[in-house]
Amino acid sequence: MANLSTTYMGLKLKNPIIASSSGLTGTLKDLVELEKSGVGAIVLKSIFEEEIISETEDNLNKMNASGFIYPETMEYFDFDEMEDPVANYLKLIADAKSEVSIPIIASVNCVTADKWPDFAKRIQSAGADGIELNIFALPTDMNRSATQNEALYFDIIERVSKATTLPIAIKISPYNSSLANFIKKLSETKVKAIVLFNRFYSPDFDVNNFEFTSTSVFSTPAEIALSLRWVAIMSGRIDTDLSASTGVHDGLGAIKQLLAGAQTVQVCSTLYRNGFAKVEDILKQTEEWMNEKGFNDIEQFRGKMSQVRTYNPAAFERVQFMKYFRDMDR
Ligand SMILES: Cc1cc2nc3c(=O)[nH]c(=O)nc-3n(C[C@H](O)[C@H](O)[C@H](O)COP(=O)(O)O)c2cc1C
Repeated sequence: MANLSTTYMGLKLKNPIIASSSGLTGTLKDLVELEKSGVGAIVLKSIFEEEIISETEDNLNKMNASGFIYPETMEYFDFDEMEDPVANYLKLIADAKSEVSIPIIASVNCVTADKWPDFAKRIQSAGADGIELNIFALPTDMNRSATQNEALYFDIIERVSKATTLPIAIKISPYNSSLANFIKKLSETKVKAIVLFNRFYSPDFDVNNFEFTSTSVFSTPAEIALSLRWVAIMSGRIDTDLSASTGVHDGLGAIKQLLAGAQTVQVCSTLYRNGFAKVEDILKQTEEWMNEKGFNDIEQFRGKMSQVRTYNPAAFERVQFMKYFRDMDR
């Protein structure tokens, strides 16, 4: 029997398939169902920095109004009584930890290092096993340099790692210049894992009515190419775990990402499209492939097709495109 167990950001997982952060990981009922489906870990739906900041400011206002003077008092609030996103989030973590036995990774969507990072302490107190920082500010400001944009990530990581001893993962987008250098620099911080990549809503045009529409919220299997390439390029070159996200819809996608060197593989769109039962399929396909190839555990093939280990490193770089284009000449 193939052994699918792995480690990820210092946590032990029974297999590398993670339910990535989405609307499917925001209620206790779904978390319980996801565990039953067989996933190795779950990343909770993100809480937004703005929600955290507005809760803190509301509480401070309430405390001031009622004569409280010690901010620590906030720790003693009865969150069950509070109908706000932060209280609900902390309760979700605590409930998940009592009902579910696989690792639960909290997720914060943030764009600044101000005001909110201390919240990581409360995520830890609520019982989360790790925290994933979903950082993204579209680099549209023509007056900000790449270094300035990157500084934001390093500031956030530093502030959060001072607030908590939880393992931290950082989920990034591919929209960074000098991507390999940026990923290397991230790996030299306290982060234990880097998730490649987040996927965003993109605007589209309705050319008849001159209106904006949106591209599909869900990925297609073809979209695996971008993360596959970058996982393969970076794995084996940095000590930080890489988690592959975007475009993994089946066992074949998961196998490819493991061959590229991913420590874990995150799935989202396929769960929306096919239901949680898809996880069993993915695990079965991976296990069957391992049995067929004679692999007893993941380490025997993880990174086998990464750029540093492949017989054909150029496969990941520009030469390959030149060959393709030449082949398409008539
Ligand atoms: C409806 C929906 C909600 C999502 N919400 C979040 C979120 O709260 N936080 C986050 O980091 N990513 C979120 N994502 C992104 C997914 O976690 C994932 O990175 C992305 O969908 C690409 O993976 P996929 O190709 O498996 O769908 C969301 C995706 C979808 C489709």
